[in-house]
Amino acid sequence: MSKRERVLSGMRPSGRLHLGNLAGALQNWIALQRDYDCFFFIADWHALTTDYAETADLQANIREMAADMLAAGLDPERSTIFVQSRVPEHAELHLLFSMITPEPWLKRVPTYEEQQEANPNKDLSTYGFLGYPVLQAADILIYKANYVPVGQDQLPHIELTREIARRFNNFYGPVFPEPGAKVTDVPRVRGTDGEKMSKSRDNCIYLAESPAEVTAKVRPMVTDPARKRRSDPGDPEKCPVYDLHKVFTPIGVREQTIIPGCTRALFGCLDCKDVLLQHMLPILTPIREKREELIARPAQIAEVLNDGSARARAVAAATLKEAREAMHLL
Ligand code: TRP
Ligand code: SF4
Repeated sequence: MSKRERVLSGMRPSGRLHLGNLAGALQNWIALQRDYDCFFFIADWHALTTDYAETADLQANIREMAADMLAAGLDPERSTIFVQSRVPEHAELHLLFSMITPEPWLKRVPTYEEQQEANPNKDLSTYGFLGYPVLQAADILIYKANYVPVGQDQLPHIELTREIARRFNNFYGPVFPEPGAKVTDVPRVRGTDGEKMSKSRDNCIYLAESPAEVTAKVRPMVTDPARKRRSDPGDPEKCPVYDLHKVFTPIGVREQTIIPGCTRALFGCLDCKDVLLQHMLPILTPIREKREELIARPAQIAEVLNDGSARARAVAAATLKEAREAMHLL
């Protein structure tokens, strides 16, 4: 069997996943499982870098997210699915990297100030938050990942990872290959209010929601504001409902029905939303059912994460040993 290239990515445990997460990351991860040796993990330590003051829901969030991931099609038979904190080797490598990472590199990572400005209610002047990308570098390099599928916003973190790998290799000899980013062009998925779908905005449709709940959210959804009356033509590109059509409705139906229906005012927005629901519900229903099964059997989720974490740990421990050796720590 030829050795497949390795892909690694992580997601912070925000709890239940919404359609923006599905279209933005999860569907892409699921597709990558076919061609790569995949490592996917729940970045619980990264959640602590911003949410250190409220950890009570952490385990529940991990469980909910794992259920969504598995239900959507991440397959523990094919991918190594694990929890970051269950592989403590990441923390030791993070420590070693922290010794060689110049502080100015971290201060100039754009997310550093952006996140502080976006969260004025949280004190993000911590050591741990400054070190966020060093931990991310450890996550990636400890598996010698070839590719890291991430959104555009994460590119500076991947670049920093490459810089840390290079610096380590210069000091101590070649241990870490430089990973490449696999930038997924993340489709824009706006929420029910027309703003970017985001948990903090309360405009999300969740994988966990029933057909009745999804329908009740789609029907009143904001549309292209130009379509005030049924006779007004609209522009699907300006419409958050069409974002969802792109995720769920086959291209043929979009081109033959949705686009002409909207731009030539051949149908109303409610008709358009009904077509969306017709395509969306049959895709979401099996995911929700599988998710319910998993949530009802927490031991099964725990087992998947235990196995995955043990597999990940074996790989991580081997790399960590090389790093220690290179640094004369063994
Ligand atoms: N920082 C990533 C995000 O916010 C999550 C993450 C943590 C990650 N470690 C990673 C992604 C390693 C890819 C690889 O989305
Ligand atoms: Fe949006 Fe459909 Fe209405 Fe056009 S017809 S504005 S795509 S909901």
